[in-house]
Amino acid sequence: MAVITISAEALAGRSSEETRQWCAQLEAGDILYFPQTPVQIPQDDITFLLGQQQTDSSLHKNIAYKPNLDKLSGVDTKTANAQAVARLQTIMRQYSRTVTEFLTEFLAPYKANWQLDYASFRPQEEEGRDLPLRRRNDLLHTDAFPTRPTHGARILRFFNNIHPSRTRDWVVSDPFAKVVKQFAPQQIAPRVDGAFVRAAKAVGRGIGLGAAIPSIKRSPYDDFMMRFHNFLKENPGFQAECPKYNFNFPPGSSWMAYTDTVPHAVLAGQYALEQTFLVRPQALVAPASSPLKVLEEIAGAPLVGRPGTFFSA
Ligand code: SIN
Ligand code: FE
Repeated sequence: MAVITISAEALAGRSSEETRQWCAQLEAGDILYFPQTPVQIPQDDITFLLGQQQTDSSLHKNIAYKPNLDKLSGVDTKTANAQAVARLQTIMRQYSRTVTEFLTEFLAPYKANWQLDYASFRPQEEEGRDLPLRRRNDLLHTDAFPTRPTHGARILRFFNNIHPSRTRDWVVSDPFAKVVKQFAPQQIAPRVDGAFVRAAKAVGRGIGLGAAIPSIKRSPYDDFMMRFHNFLKENPGFQAECPKYNFNFPPGSSWMAYTDTVPHAVLAGQYALEQTFLVRPQALVAPASSPLKVLEEIAGAPLVGRPGTFFSA
């Protein structure tokens, strides 16, 4: 596990070979870190975002922006000031576009095969947040979306620390391929004995999806990734004993990671922006390190219908 620092000079002078190498490192569970963010966010926008807590308490929760619908969620429109909501929406639209433009160019190997997912504004202090255990972000976990199965597509996230003076403090651990092998299949599929393997075999034979899987829209892969997210957060032994690497991302920096691969937690920090992409399996430059391939090898069967075919927004 490594954090790869990309300076503004290295970014400007990169070759396509270097870019492929960075993609492979990302896919294997490294973090790409830009000390100076490569995306321009207007100072007025940052000032507005930093000021929300004081001026409108209903706008200081974590807020999602859905670029494909141009919609904000997490805003209480009954209490929020309509003008402030409109401004926030404009800022998020612009942030989402700016990050997408940068990454479309920077991560050229992915661009035909990814889907723009949600962006978010994270204005709350992360230290000491009072959240239910499965929603806590200060416990190490790999990401999975409860309501948006990816069918094997990877979760790639790009972050900006927009706090004027404080770092955003992460702790990360060894990548999925290493972590998952520490646990016996019955430990990581605890709810129904053997369901993981049975579901895998059913998909392998092309039948019985409905019998083994709670919802037809979720693949065995998605079920596993959701269970694994919960399992890691609920496992005090893993939380205490896993190798830990601390990285404090300074104000004005950006970083990106496959958060379905890198176990991560945020311990402290306030005010971040983030944009998520879903990268289809066929785009990967080093597919062997993907959670899908790692799990299929363990299960001995395919865990999604056909990679990318059930891909939904
Ligand atoms: C997470 O994805 O667990 C949270 C990361 C962050 O907000 O810094
Ligand atoms: Fe996470």
